[in-house]
Amino acid sequence: MPDFTADKAKFDELKEFIASKKDTQGPLMPVMQKAQDLFGCLPIQVQDVIAEDLDIPMTEVYGVATFYSQFSLEPKGEHVIGVCMGTACYVKNSQPILDRLAKELKVEVGKTTPDGKFTLEATRCLGCCGLAPVIMIDDQVFGRLEPDEIPAILEKF
Ligand code: FES
Repeated sequence: MPDFTADKAKFDELKEFIASKKDTQGPLMPVMQKAQDLFGCLPIQVQDVIAEDLDIPMTEVYGVATFYSQFSLEPKGEHVIGVCMGTACYVKNSQPILDRLAKELKVEVGKTTPDGKFTLEATRCLGCCGLAPVIMIDDQVFGRLEPDEIPAILEKF
């Protein structure tokens, strides 16, 4: 885990942002979004600052951080793989695709490989159901996939 406390400039920017939002309505979501943009994720040290400066319980910050999928508690890998688990993809066998990715990368869903290269995620409908089953790696879409195509796709990254 990187040492986020060393990032003084980012903490200063976050604290300034919190101060500017503190007295507005519903400051928590914009503050968390800002923190995630700054740090790439919401590690515990960052959540601490948010709770303290907004003067709200840590449990509230943690609850929001874990509830909304746009927030991540851990840094993401260099490449983020999203496997669509929407209905169209699911019926076209996205589960075996996800399983194969987990096996090839030796990583659980929602986790990042130890070398920091890939994060594997299950997602909702990606909006291209005609190509089911679909995965996205960063901003590239791969559709009509078979599990056996996975190793060659990963090679490209
Ligand atoms: S269900 Fe997978 S893209 Fe829509």
